Amino acid sequence: MTILIEQQQPQQPEFGVEGGGGKDHVVDEKELVLDGGFLVPHTNSFGQTFRDYDAEGERQPGVDIFYQNNHINQTYDFVQRMRKEYSKLNRVEMSIWECCELLNEVVDESDPDLDVPQIEHLLQTAEAIRKDYPNEDWLHLTGLIHDLGKVLLLPCFGELPQWAVVGDIFPVGCAFDKSIVHDKYFKENPDYNNPAYNTQYGVYSERCGLNNLLMSWGHDDYMYLVAKENNTTLPSAALFIIRYHSFYALHTAGAYKHLMNEEDVENLKWLRVFNKYDLYSKSKVRVDVEKLKPYYLSLIEKYFPAAKLRW
Ligand SMILES: [Fe+2]
Ligand SMILES: [Fe+2]
Repeated sequence: MTILIEQQQPQQPEFGVEGGGGKDHVVDEKELVLDGGFLVPHTNSFGQTFRDYDAEGERQPGVDIFYQNNHINQTYDFVQRMRKEYSKLNRVEMSIWECCELLNEVVDESDPDLDVPQIEHLLQTAEAIRKDYPNEDWLHLTGLIHDLGKVLLLPCFGELPQWAVVGDIFPVGCAFDKSIVHDKYFKENPDYNNPAYNTQYGVYSERCGLNNLLMSWGHDDYMYLVAKENNTTLPSAALFIIRYHSFYALHTAGAYKHLMNEEDVENLKWLRVFNKYDLYSKSKVRVDVEKLKPYYLSLIEKYFPAAKLRW
């Protein structure tokens, strides 16, 4: 680990910014079938099991360094500054579909599984959900838009470094949980030794609700802000999924439950459903983007009042 630190200094923040209702459905993986002939794959685009951060694949060293940078730099102060800056939504005006196309220019270095254009991942996720939940159109649209916040990597959005956009997220302002991937790197985070932020509750209180937590900054919280501030009519479960879909410590490891309120408990059921599709649709199944476009345009129109959103 020491060698890594010496070879690659963690990136310092250098951004183009100033100053600093749910149905409980237990999903059997065998149920996940795409296009009537595709079963849930056991391996990702690189032929390895999903989310294997120790596999010696071609992406592995980059993923390791990514989490080092992420865990050292995501502090309470940093997240506060990012949220304040990006809540302004004063950078770009564009439609959801334009954003889907723009996202094709993005590569997510934190993801050991994905090696297809982002728009295909979005549509793979949405279509896999649609197959199993044909009547939950809000969940199809959630699949389509959940990763759009990754545009933060692009120059017109401030060109944030990968560690401030993608990867697993976690609360700041309280102790980092041991279940977070590569948790060893938190020891170099300034908040790790700050008594205000390093206890089980930190600045929070029991069952205060996830809504009151500051989460490490990234594409999840940004897209949540974009959807909410543009007055989406998507249900609260959709916003919850968008905001916490990378919160693996919660939805997969079961950490931080002492901070959840009753609404979170309900919404988490939907997030768990969603998560399987987000993860397992990252495979080599290709989708026909142009063929699917009219259906998703109709959903965008249904759930977003304005054609152009503020980003
Ligand atoms: Fe994501
Ligand atoms: Fe995703």
